[in-house]
Amino acid sequence: MGDTNATLNAKGDTNNFEIKSGTLGPDVVDIRKLYANTGMFTYDPGFTSTASCDSALTYIDGEEGVLLHRGYPIGQLAEHSSFMEVAHLLLNGELPSADALDDFTYTITRHTMLHDQLRQFYQGFRRDAHPMAIMCGAVGALSAFYHDSTDISDPEHRKISSHRLIAKMPTIAAMAYKYAIGQPFMQPDNSLSYTGNFLRMTFGVPAEEYEVNPVVERALDRIFILHADHEQNASTSTVRLAGSSGANPFACIAAGIACLWGPAHGGANEAALNMLHEIGTPGKIPEYIARAKNKDDPFRLMGFGHRVYKNYDPRATVMQKTVREVFEALNVSDPVFEVALQLEEMALNDDYFVEKKLFPNVDFYSGVILSAIGFPTTMFTALFALARTVGWVAQWNEMISDPAQRIGRPRQLYTGPAQRDYVPVDKR
Ligand code: CMC
Repeated sequence: MGDTNATLNAKGDTNNFEIKSGTLGPDVVDIRKLYANTGMFTYDPGFTSTASCDSALTYIDGEEGVLLHRGYPIGQLAEHSSFMEVAHLLLNGELPSADALDDFTYTITRHTMLHDQLRQFYQGFRRDAHPMAIMCGAVGALSAFYHDSTDISDPEHRKISSHRLIAKMPTIAAMAYKYAIGQPFMQPDNSLSYTGNFLRMTFGVPAEEYEVNPVVERALDRIFILHADHEQNASTSTVRLAGSSGANPFACIAAGIACLWGPAHGGANEAALNMLHEIGTPGKIPEYIARAKNKDDPFRLMGFGHRVYKNYDPRATVMQKTVREVFEALNVSDPVFEVALQLEEMALNDDYFVEKKLFPNVDFYSGVILSAIGFPTTMFTALFALARTVGWVAQWNEMISDPAQRIGRPRQLYTGPAQRDYVPVDKR
């Protein structure tokens, strides 16, 4: 049993702060009274040492490469579960009974259609708009259509809006793709699974029957599971911060999508595949590894490194296995996969990457699979957003249900000019 208090000696005073323990993971020092007691703030840009909330959803041990959702290891969920079951688990805390899973799947399926007027929003975008630009706009716009589920103090409203978001995201993402390639939008088919329906809305056309390939359906469902939640990452923290002001859930998830778009976060899957194509052949790998190590070159190995994982990202392990399965089932091969395998091996044997504990992350192999399935690179991050919506809404619900929840309001270390008097323009 360790100490229950941490002591801070500063400016001649001694202050004690309670040490709190969770079920797993590092203890935290509760510094909520720090400012009141000392007049000082903590300073932690990038939040590398700051726990911003309590959460019972997801646990990561970055040193050991462990990822648990509600206690269940990601490898077990990816192998035995389905995306709908993981969504239920994250939202409700427990694996559902067979009946509860059927009910949940039925409910999600019944919310897959979009308000018809939302179609017109798409016409406002250029045909070459990035799907993430459309996702931000269309998801934010949902708040203008579903007024009957935006009273965030009502748990039933929160539940309905969460279900709507999870259900409509595949429709919105598939429509973004169809709009880009000039094909008619496909309406959802509720006889299909969540993932099968998404595949049909993306790759099917109204003129023909679409047959869902079960191996592709399973692989994509697994990719959705791998992306469903990842504790307090940048986009989830964005959703929580937006939600802490009382904003409606559709607006909060639109904020999360905007944050996810960046290449350091969800945009890395697109950037990783572009990088693998640019490398092109195994012979050019050493040149790119040298660039990644060069401090004067901003280039980084995309799909490598992680703020939390200082070991192999457990999602990357599943991802690598899934690439092989999809390639076998579709009878395809892609030289880019060979480049990825060799790049990984060379990097993992290079002192720079070993010392900095840089390992492949979830995005390193996901692009290779998504591209084999037929998705263009621009859709990769949209698929990440689709899957992460489950985590976002679960985290948002957890936050709003907490009676101690307050608006998120970080402080700062001000480095601008001290107070000075205004100088009229003719005197400057
Ligand atoms: N290639 C080369 N060097 C790297 C890389 C990389 N991919 N990642 C980190 N480093 C170096 C970095 O230069 C720094 O070196 P030094 O200590 O000498 O200055 C050191 O490793 C620590 O990096 P950091 O940027 O301080 O670490 P961070 O925790 O702030 O950043 C990261 C984490 C994921 C943004 C970063 O590793 C990165 O940019 N990776 C490439 C983008 C990527 O794959 N992102 C996907 C993350 S997983 C999916 C998701 O959560 O969205």
